[in-house]
Amino acid sequence: MEAAIAAHGLRKRFGSFDAVQGIDLIVKHGEVLGFLGPNGAGKSTTMRMITGFLAPTAGSVRICGTDMLADPLKAKEHMGYLPEGAPCYPDMTVAEFLGFIGAVRGFSGAERARRVDAAVERTNLQGVYHQPIETLSKGFKRRVGLAQAILHDPPVLIMDEPPTVSTRTRSTKCVNSSAPWPRTRRSC
Ligand SMILES: Nc1ncnc2c1ncn2[C@@H]1O[C@H](COP(=O)(O)OP(=O)(O)OP(=O)(O)O)[C@@H](O)[C@H]1O
Ligand SMILES: [Mg+2]
Repeated sequence: MEAAIAAHGLRKRFGSFDAVQGIDLIVKHGEVLGFLGPNGAGKSTTMRMITGFLAPTAGSVRICGTDMLADPLKAKEHMGYLPEGAPCYPDMTVAEFLGFIGAVRGFSGAERARRVDAAVERTNLQGVYHQPIETLSKGFKRRVGLAQAILHDPPVLIMDEPPTVSTRTRSTKCVNSSAPWPRTRRSC
């Protein structure tokens, strides 16, 4: 089986500054890989290149065997991405935003409703479902970001600073429900 993520020689140069100086990595299905490093080390930049949101200066990325540069739409079908921050449309409610993401991912009708319900359930967003995103706390905004990332049930999930774990029941449930991700998700 193809690796979930295969990156070779990834580099990113901003002007005269080398933000990422050559990353090689292979992530197999079922593996969980974390980036640790000081602020400014290049973690987010590397994730943006792996997810196809930033073109690398050099190097290649394959997601489930699909080359990100050659076929970005197909590569992104295999992947959910929770970016740094919470870049949701702030004036939409959670329901509107997740419905919109479902449509962008190509779902409609009962299938879209089922997927939105499942993502809301997994991230415990029922209590804020009809609330505008701009009125949510930071933690809930992150959960909305996670819900959009898992909505299409991707085999590869990339999270830049995953939602914070707390000992409160609701948060713990959220984290627990996403913990077995690599073992339960569909493969490529
Ligand atoms: N669009 C950009 N233009 C210029 N420099 C950039 C750009 N994006 C990132 N950088 C620089 O690249 C370096 C790596 O940034 P990056 O955001 O990848 O770090 P990070 O490891 O994710 O840091 P943090 O732990 O703070 O999230 C930093 O010096 C940053 O200022
Ligand atoms: Mg970062």
